[in-house]
Amino acid sequence: MGAFVDVVMARRMTRSYRSDPLPDGLLERLVGLANRAPSAGKTQGWHLVVLEGADTARFWDITLPPMRRGTFKWQGLLDAPAILLPFADPKAYVDRYGEPDKAATGLGSGVDAWPAPYWTIDASMSVMTLLLAAEDEGLGALFFGVFKGERELRRALGVPPHLELLGAISLGYPATADRAASAGRSAARPSRAPQQIIHRGGWTPTRPA
Ligand SMILES: Cc1cc2nc3c(=O)[nH]c(=O)nc-3n(C[C@H](O)[C@H](O)[C@H](O)COP(=O)(O)O)c2cc1C
Repeated sequence: MGAFVDVVMARRMTRSYRSDPLPDGLLERLVGLANRAPSAGKTQGWHLVVLEGADTARFWDITLPPMRRGTFKWQGLLDAPAILLPFADPKAYVDRYGEPDKAATGLGSGVDAWPAPYWTIDASMSVMTLLLAAEDEGLGALFFGVFKGERELRRALGVPPHLELLGAISLGYPATADRAASAGRSAARPSRAPQQIIHRGGWTPTRPA
């Protein structure tokens, strides 16, 4: 197990995989850790639809149809042995905040009462924890957008309409030990320095790096 700093610094989005399956129990271990992320009212209102092995074709056939596949830049992404689809459940939050200990908040009346979509925030925190847990296990992962075919995908997988899809996560062993080998274009952008992000005492003009 790596030190926290090492895990955070080593994690890179992985876009090329070996097709080796995930060892038994590993996904459950990652999800157990991911679910330790904070969640409003400890609602834990997230779900993962998981496609493994040959089943991952069900995802790719819809979101990256064979016609467009030949020109796809990240061919090794299709070798990932698992695709995870994280969903946030707004209804779970409305229900939870309708319980007696939360009723005074008024948030149990419906999603429109919420100042921010806590279901998206919480699911994102769990996804980030999962990405770090994967790194800690020597796995690679990529969080990416589902830009095409969401409706068809949901229908094919029988996902209830009230759940909100965050994106997709590929998961598996990286094709190469070089973590930068499948870096996207954006990864070369410089990291912002803490002094560009911190505004002590109130808003201040962003300082140079
Ligand atoms: C919300 C979100 C959406 C992203 N969508 C994509 C995507 O559709 N395709 C992709 O290749 N990478 C995607 N990325 C990965 C980013 O490009 C990547 O995290 C960023 O360039 C920094 O690289 P690193 O995570 O390897 O440090 C996404 C990341 C996030 C957080």
